[in-house]
Amino acid sequence: MPADLVIVANRLPVDRVTQPDGTQGWRPSPGGLVTAIEPVMRANDGTWIGWPGGPSEDADAGDLDPFEADGLQLVPIGLTAEEIELFYEGFSNATIWPIYHDLVAKPEFHREWWDSYVKVNEKYAAKAASVAAEGATVWVHDYQLQLVPQMLRELRPDLRIGFYLHIPFPPAELFQQLPWRRQLLEGLLGADLVGFQLPGGAANFVRLVRQRVGHKTHRDLVYLPDGRTVRAAAFPISIDAAGFEALASDEAVVARAAEIREALGSPRRIFLGIDRLDYTKGIYARLRAYAELIETGELDVEDAVFVQVAVPSREQVEQYRILRDEIDRLVGRINGDLGRIGRPAISYLHSSYPREEMAALYTAADVMVVTPYRDGMNLVAKEYVACRTGDDGALVLSEFAGAADELRQAWLVNPYDINGMKAALLEAYRADGKELTRRMKAMRRTIKKHDVAAWADAFMTELADVEHSTHAKSVRAVGRS
Ligand code: G6P
Repeated sequence: MPADLVIVANRLPVDRVTQPDGTQGWRPSPGGLVTAIEPVMRANDGTWIGWPGGPSEDADAGDLDPFEADGLQLVPIGLTAEEIELFYEGFSNATIWPIYHDLVAKPEFHREWWDSYVKVNEKYAAKAASVAAEGATVWVHDYQLQLVPQMLRELRPDLRIGFYLHIPFPPAELFQQLPWRRQLLEGLLGADLVGFQLPGGAANFVRLVRQRVGHKTHRDLVYLPDGRTVRAAAFPISIDAAGFEALASDEAVVARAAEIREALGSPRRIFLGIDRLDYTKGIYARLRAYAELIETGELDVEDAVFVQVAVPSREQVEQYRILRDEIDRLVGRINGDLGRIGRPAISYLHSSYPREEMAALYTAADVMVVTPYRDGMNLVAKEYVACRTGDDGALVLSEFAGAADELRQAWLVNPYDINGMKAALLEAYRADGKELTRRMKAMRRTIKKHDVAAWADAFMTELADVEHSTHAKSVRAVGRS
């Protein structure tokens, strides 16, 4: 049935998995994007187009029919093994991802990766065009699908199209390294509204459009030669704060948190890191900083433990394999050098966990450590705050995570500054109850007000309004710069 709201994202909210008995099953997909959009989908009765993970024999074979999972209407797009290699692992995650994250790793440029990116974007656009009702709203998500807005507009000019980028949008100096910079900008300009995490990203985009495509712009508006106006603005994403709070108050979760603390040997303080195993997350430097505090005796393994959860991610991409080996070695070395029997310095888990277990970990943790080199937002930081129903617990947060703009009361750190991180970890460890409460209360107020529903509302309201400026000649006639 044609849908009035269509979400287009690289991934579906569920991954197809083969169970041990050979039957097909589903499990939630990784990452912040899915966590954020799922509640919006439910509230709006939308249809979600995306990849269910894993290769399809023949992506056009129609082996993947639309289906319903957990009350959500899902339309799968199959990717062949080659498309996964070139479009997903290649252009999306080894070209765009590092460029958009401050060149934390070196990006690779390959023309055949780009060709596949174009082809796969066409596939998503065609599917969206076929399921959207007349005049429907289509909301396209993230860096894997930046060409879809323009392709979709060509196929279906009747649609209202929004695009939201979940990762940072880089400064012009980095973006312009991309040989396909102009095509990417034009792809995004197919949308009526282009949303970013932070105002800086929106400003970078508008500046690039002016410089590289040559369109007229004024503040957050871009004026296209065909008379359309595109708006670029910031909509900082958030979480289902009430949902996490309820989960953290659940008896089973509270009991599990106590069990975790006991299993760790009931230390005085538990430090916690939860990240996808990604080089942007700063896991290596963070663990080194922590280990140095033990070496110098400022922390003791009898009193404290660092639980690091690393969620497996993009394991076929070389940079991610290298990172995994580096972290494995570092943890082994730290525990070998500094641990005692039954008292490792770091309790390392390479696995993903359901929401309930995450909430139990957040509840058990005294100091949450989130230190990415660059991060669009970082929902883990917000989830921790939402789970601290007792207004306690400390958050050590990188100034380079989008979340730092809102969570000002965290211990903010520069993740490149190991001594600065050590000082912040110690301060957070030693902070008294009054200090913790003061900070946590303020952060909790912030995330309760700016939850994911408010985020989606703000974007949708703005998208609905954009039409007014679309053909408004008076707007185009003034204020051009
Ligand atoms: C980040 C990105 C998402 C992506 C997720 C998981 O949150 O913004 O677009 O889906 O990471 O990464 P993966 O490559 O497994 O989809």
